[in-house]
Amino acid sequence: MCGIVGYIGHREAYPIIIKGLQRLEYRGYDSAGIVLYDEAGTKLAKTKGKVEDLKKKAEDTISTTGKLGLGHTRWATHGVPNDTNSHPHYSNSGNLCIIHNGIIENYESIKKELIKRGYTFTSDTDTEVLVNLIEEVKKTEDVKLGKAVQIALNQVVGAYAIAVFDVNKPDEIVVAKLGSPLAIGIGENEYFVASDASPFIEYTNNAVYLEDEEMAIIRLGKEIKLRKIKDDAIAYPNILELQLNIEEIEKGGYDHFMLKEIYEQPRAIQDTYRGRLLADQGIIRMAGIDQNLEKFLKADRIIIVACGTSWHAGLVAEYIFEDLARIPVEVEYASEFRYRNPVITEKDVLIAISQSGETADTLAAIKMAKERGAFVFGVCNVVGSSIARETHAGAYTHAGPEIGVASTKAFTTQITILSLIALKLAKEKGVMSDSKFHEYLTQLENVPAKVERALKSNDAIEEIAAVYKDSPNCLYLGRGFNFPVALEGALKLKEISYIHAEGYPAAEMKHGPIALIDEQMPVVVIATKQGHYEKVVSNIQEIKSRKGKIIAVVFEGDKVVKEIADHVIEVPETEEFLSPLLTTIPLQLLSYHIALMRGCNVDQPRNLAKSVTVE
Ligand code: AGP
Repeated sequence: MCGIVGYIGHREAYPIIIKGLQRLEYRGYDSAGIVLYDEAGTKLAKTKGKVEDLKKKAEDTISTTGKLGLGHTRWATHGVPNDTNSHPHYSNSGNLCIIHNGIIENYESIKKELIKRGYTFTSDTDTEVLVNLIEEVKKTEDVKLGKAVQIALNQVVGAYAIAVFDVNKPDEIVVAKLGSPLAIGIGENEYFVASDASPFIEYTNNAVYLEDEEMAIIRLGKEIKLRKIKDDAIAYPNILELQLNIEEIEKGGYDHFMLKEIYEQPRAIQDTYRGRLLADQGIIRMAGIDQNLEKFLKADRIIIVACGTSWHAGLVAEYIFEDLARIPVEVEYASEFRYRNPVITEKDVLIAISQSGETADTLAAIKMAKERGAFVFGVCNVVGSSIARETHAGAYTHAGPEIGVASTKAFTTQITILSLIALKLAKEKGVMSDSKFHEYLTQLENVPAKVERALKSNDAIEEIAAVYKDSPNCLYLGRGFNFPVALEGALKLKEISYIHAEGYPAAEMKHGPIALIDEQMPVVVIATKQGHYEKVVSNIQEIKSRKGKIIAVVFEGDKVVKEIADHVIEVPETEEFLSPLLTTIPLQLLSYHIALMRGCNVDQPRNLAKSVTVE
């Protein structure tokens, strides 16, 4: 789970690669490295730490000229994050240089074999083993680099997106992919290689996304050659025209990507339903559903698989699908589902939810469900991502790039699209009256303006954050549609502020967590005036009588909770099933401010990466 960038062409490679790595830091930021080539040979700089540290080191220690280069930002799998284990890695002869995102699972046996043949290793990485395996194949089989890469990759087990070049043939980069993403940007007499298109979007809109088990030989002045790794068969590049916009991936005046992305939610939710929700005509139009309607209508059940925040969106969707469309739903952690031999039949529809579209466990769950005959539908944000391509059909959330490691707009846009699907199915199944359907469409259309209003509580939330920033623990409670919001609020707080936080269904509190309540314990309660309001109010009373501190999220105009809570944050009222789109906003802001006040790196919390492309 790392970010890779490569360049070959007529421009200086260094600034392109550094900027590209900064955009890819969401994929990992334990260490970083760069190699550049010019007539004087190769120049390498690597360091533990972030791309900013690499930039300092490179500018202090090497000449940064060269029109060929590779760069890497790492999330450590094999070997601790230090300078030596950072990529790029040279082969023993110093002729080959590689960057790698992924894991070579059988690297130890290959390494033993290479050691017997006289190879030595300076790092603990699987990547250094791979580059030496390529070198050994190239030497013993007397083949060109492309062929050597192909033969070597047929000997490895694992996942990879690699870029490698030979210092004796510096007009060529060879790339290959299995299980990790790899995009090639095609410019005028120049090529870019990257884990996603963000590093090259200001240079070209034309890109090829390699499929799994494909490799490409990228040679200056020539068209790219695509081959299948297994049998060397020629593959034909499908050149896409990208829609990505450079402003979308920069901070746009905000201090952090996370804050920018929180504030983008009104626009992002609107973009999610734009062209799909036609409230005045009483229509929901979604190609992926329209073309596969029978599958959904005849499904015995819907299984939702996802991880982390996307799993929380799946839990909200369970409540929505069952309540609105009367379809049984099961929500599964992809990591558990893929390994527990689940019963899946051809009458199941599996919905996989993933912002990045690259999460390894979700991808594996999809593959398994497909093999067992289920129809698989993807809800992804990143266009052209592995999950988007692996599923039978799907719908993009159109949230725009989410760079902050903590998911915010991904969550609300996932709930938006899943609400659209549930409403459409409810209508098609005939379990919802026309008037209800119309009313709900209008309510959904009103959500962005309401989110805008909810964001206005930012200053008040900042004040609450100042009171609780030093708390070691925090509880989050919610019921019904807002139980998953409690889980999501707790995840947001723990992942960016490192405060221990737990989410519970409010009624579960008395089955254990209530023992934790004392005057030190802040409890965030979602108490919207719907559904189980009175019961949640009783839960608040139970906490108050044990001296716990209540931060309540309520609908505007609430009087009862205001009387008993220590702090109240209001959000505009909406339909119960849409309330998570509003109640989640203050929880995002609360965790943001607390993390900031604790001096944490909000956009790049420790130990995490934006997309988890390893198990
Ligand atoms: C949440 O803030 C995290 N970034 C994480 O839990 C994330 O939602 C999870 O890793 C799943 O990622 P995906 O949506 O890209 O599949």
